[in-house]
Amino acid sequence: MIPERVLITGCGGMLGSAVYPCFLPHYESVLATDKEINEDWLTELDVRDDSAVSRVFSEYRPDVVIHLAAETDLEYCETHPDVAEDTNATGTRSVSKLCGEYGATLVYVSTAGVFDGKKDGVYTEEDSPNPIMVYGKTKYDGEVHASDHCGSTFVVRAGWMMGGGRRKEKKFIYKILQQLGNGRKELFAVDDRWGTPTYASDFAQNLFLLLRTGRYGVYHMVCEGTGTRHDVAKEILSICGVEDVALHPVGSEFFAEEYFVTRPRSEMMSNQNLRKIGCDHMRSWQHSLKDYIEDFFPDYIRNNGHHPKAAGKSLEY
Ligand SMILES: NC(=O)c1ccc[n+]([C@@H]2O[C@H](COP(=O)([O-])OP(=O)(O)OC[C@H]3O[C@@H](n4cnc5c(N)ncnc54)[C@H](OP(=O)(O)O)[C@@H]3O)[C@@H](O)[C@H]2O)c1
Repeated sequence: MIPERVLITGCGGMLGSAVYPCFLPHYESVLATDKEINEDWLTELDVRDDSAVSRVFSEYRPDVVIHLAAETDLEYCETHPDVAEDTNATGTRSVSKLCGEYGATLVYVSTAGVFDGKKDGVYTEEDSPNPIMVYGKTKYDGEVHASDHCGSTFVVRAGWMMGGGRRKEKKFIYKILQQLGNGRKELFAVDDRWGTPTYASDFAQNLFLLLRTGRYGVYHMVCEGTGTRHDVAKEILSICGVEDVALHPVGSEFFAEEYFVTRPRSEMMSNQNLRKIGCDHMRSWQHSLKDYIEDFFPDYIRNNGHHPKAAGKSLEY
């Protein structure tokens, strides 16, 4: 048992639902917070409320803060830039300043969305951020605050998040599965945007290991491999054993009404800095996706039994 106290903000979301159970057995105490209480193990904390955040620090005195709280909906951020700024940037500044003051280690989870997407190859930690939308800009401002105000900071960038299951997942995987569940015979998925999927459970476990190194800095932490949403949808159909559904590649303009914020053309990242310190335990996104679907959505697998668990890299620690 590590004799430290861990405060997690924004823990009621996709990533928090993986980080909390991963950290809980290892630390003396874990305080999981969010602005909405959707689990009985959550405590209310809105990171925009300075005095509430200060109170938690003075009463709980965390040794480690995993700062996940963020407005993550790109369209909402674009239409509510003040809320995005208050949450992603100013909220992070308050948390970071308090971490500095109390001598806590800060983990700030950021995104590939800080890049402009123009690079041809994968982004490494050496590439300069140049965000092109409100979400990316406010998350990058958060990165700067985190590094400026707390000397012991990990900035950890994740890719396209997969995780949370039926109750928490707001993103692509469950949207595709829901369409399959609704009996759709035709699916459409974008093939002109590239990224790196990131399984929340793997991220949580690798994050735990990274923290133990004490090697502060900026890290990319994504699954191995890259692809488009179309590639991911194709893999979902294969994992689920679906053969009677037509999957059509489309350009981003196909979904422009619903997803009107322009995404970077490329959000592909590689874990260069994790590899440098021997702490890259992330598996291929195909292996992780298979585990995710088998663990959280087994009822979507039609020929269940023909898809034994993938033999990916072990994440045991
Ligand atoms: N999702 C991705 O694809 C992705 C990719 C890269 C990095 N990230 C980063 O990973 C972190 C975790 O995101 P996630 O994927 O778990 O998304 P998520 O499910 O949206 O989780 C974020 C959580 O923060 C909460 N929150 C929002 N405003 C808050 C506030 N003012 N005070 C306290 N909590 C607040 C949200 O509550 P509500 O749901 O009630 O708003 C939500 O529970 C975020 O920092 C995000 O930027 C996410």
